[in-house]
Amino acid sequence: MITKPKGTSDIYGLEAKKRAYVDEILKNVCESYNYNYVETPVFEASELFHRGVGETTDIVSKETYTFLDRGNRSITLRPEGTAGIVRWFIENKLYGNMTEPVKVYYNSKMYRYERPQAGRYREFTQFGIELLGSDDIFADIDVISLVYNTYLLLGLKGVKLSINTLGDKESRENYKKALVDYLKPNIKLLCSDCQKRFNNNPLRILDCKVDIDSDILKNAPSTYDYLNEESKKRYEKIKDYLDLLDINYEEDFSLVRGLDYYDHLIFEVYADVEGLGGIALGGGGRYNNLVETLGGPSVPAVGFAMGYDRTILAMDNSNVNFDIKDEIDVFIMYVSDTEKETASYLTQDLRLNGFITETDMFGKSLKAQFKTVNRINPKYLVILNDKDLKENIVTVKDNLTKEEEKIKITELTSYLFERI
Ligand code: HAM
Repeated sequence: MITKPKGTSDIYGLEAKKRAYVDEILKNVCESYNYNYVETPVFEASELFHRGVGETTDIVSKETYTFLDRGNRSITLRPEGTAGIVRWFIENKLYGNMTEPVKVYYNSKMYRYERPQAGRYREFTQFGIELLGSDDIFADIDVISLVYNTYLLLGLKGVKLSINTLGDKESRENYKKALVDYLKPNIKLLCSDCQKRFNNNPLRILDCKVDIDSDILKNAPSTYDYLNEESKKRYEKIKDYLDLLDINYEEDFSLVRGLDYYDHLIFEVYADVEGLGGIALGGGGRYNNLVETLGGPSVPAVGFAMGYDRTILAMDNSNVNFDIKDEIDVFIMYVSDTEKETASYLTQDLRLNGFITETDMFGKSLKAQFKTVNRINPKYLVILNDKDLKENIVTVKDNLTKEEEKIKITELTSYLFERI
């Protein structure tokens, strides 16, 4: 038997309905914040992620699905959405006349070659938003506020927002220097990857998955202590706005995020979920240098991506009520060929009027159709018989009260509209 690749899922049935419910909430919240939907390719030139996300990040160095296509081009299945969005932004020259920011959202499959476990997959979905063109802290607030409200609207309790800042270039350089000085005497005690990172990208040591519990990393210097005045002021102002908007957050000065493109504000959303423990449901931050790094002009930007599958898993495990429209409105019952003809056009007519309508497709006896009805539990039954049809009459049965009524076939739609 051919089975699905490790770390992937088939999505169907109730799971698919839950996703449709979540998608609707995400779409509505994005629309109310004026973010527009965007779709970019699942695969891109590998160079995009090497330059964008960072050569030495775990995502690029260990987790990408990269291959040569038949034209010998190095292609990578996207491991995240931001680099592709920035490529799209530059390629379409959307920076041309930036009187308004470009605000987009996506809900797309991503690919990372990770060790699969609950909440961590090789094919997964990220719901993400990106705001390009504004360096104002109002843009940071726009993103965080959307993130915060999205989790509220999804009904997920116990979600925590952790924030930190990496500051501007000068602050990051100061911090990098302090970190290198601090790590130097102990670097041999860290894993071999960290020893490599020490020379080419020391900040990435702080999100090492191997040394995550090491005291050396736990006691590393704090980013906050190396911020210059301007970066500090910017960060404090963001906190003022978060307070103003009643957005609860905690500060985590050890937060660095696993991608190279960030500066200034970074943040993550966590929840303690039964069966999963403490898990990052999403993360984001400001990335003012990425557009330039990828060949565009200098355009500031900020964004966020939610681990969509994890968020749904967290909702499931926390017994969030998914308001799913899962009931069949009408089941049309027939036996003879002439009844079947009427059933066919009534089914179509009711469906076109928006009723979720089903009928028999196996040529079942009436008794067997009643068994189907017991199983699928529609709100109403429409029972056809040749004798009544000669007078254009059908029987409608309320499946809850079991009350039956004979009505004119021409009145069926309005009858159901009044009741469903
Ligand atoms: P990230 O932190 O790498 O950020 O991913 C965002 C979220 O995607 C994570 O917090 C997690 O919930 C989910 N995620 C990551 N890997 C997996 C996986 N293997 N299985 C299931 N879920 C996963 C980014 O990707 C940035 N592009 C976010 C961003 C947007 N920053 C600015 N704009």
